[in-house]
Amino acid sequence: MTTQYYTASSLDGFIATLDDSLDWLFPLGDINETGYPSFIKEVGALAMGSATYEWMLRHVINAEGREPVSWPYAQPAWVFSSRRLPNVEGADVRFVRGDVRPVHADMQKAAHGKNIWLVGGGELVGQFYDAGLLDELIVQVGSVTLRSGKRLLPRRITSPSFILESARVIGPGFAELRYRVPRG
Ligand SMILES: NC(=O)c1ccc[n+]([C@@H]2O[C@H](COP(=O)([O-])OP(=O)(O)OC[C@H]3O[C@@H](n4cnc5c(N)ncnc54)[C@H](OP(=O)(O)O)[C@@H]3O)[C@@H](O)[C@H]2O)c1
Repeated sequence: MTTQYYTASSLDGFIATLDDSLDWLFPLGDINETGYPSFIKEVGALAMGSATYEWMLRHVINAEGREPVSWPYAQPAWVFSSRRLPNVEGADVRFVRGDVRPVHADMQKAAHGKNIWLVGGGELVGQFYDAGLLDELIVQVGSVTLRSGKRLLPRRITSPSFILESARVIGPGFAELRYRVPRG
């Protein structure tokens, strides 16, 4: 069981623009050519912050100009928010707030030995890192810069540094970097 931050980022370390746009991301490549299809098979539970959840509501579930679609994850999902957010029919979404540690314990139980996916954003993942609960980062680094935006991981982490375990070229649009977070 591994707790993984799997995300895409611009070359200068942003996962979305300040107004939560991902329009820069999709032209860079096909998700099916990344490690995503094999990654998601091993995920037993996932967590995200409210901006990510609301992005999904706007762009995936209730996208303009087409019929609503169903929630894309079979795994239980925990959404962190201090606000009351709408639920998605048929989705196993649990709304939580505050300390990530008890939530992580619940996620572990629900994941039945499979991995925990921290979808983002970066500050929420930072809270898991601070609690010593982050094991791996898997970042699809896109071949673009954004200059500003929502940060990949707003922490200063220098020593011990992350341990680079693999780097893979995914066409001209992405490099997939996998890092282990050292223990102790
Ligand atoms: N490039 C990619 O692959 C990728 C991956 C994931 C996400 N994204 C995008 O990146 C953006 C991420 O946005 P973001 O950086 O603002 O992060 P976010 O984690 O999605 O949302 C942040 C919000 O979550 C709530 N929150 C976080 N921790 C909490 C806690 N412990 N307890 C209660 N509430 C908590 C707070 O809002 P409230 O309390 O006000 O609700 C906080 O402002 C989104 O646009 C998303 O679509 C991109």
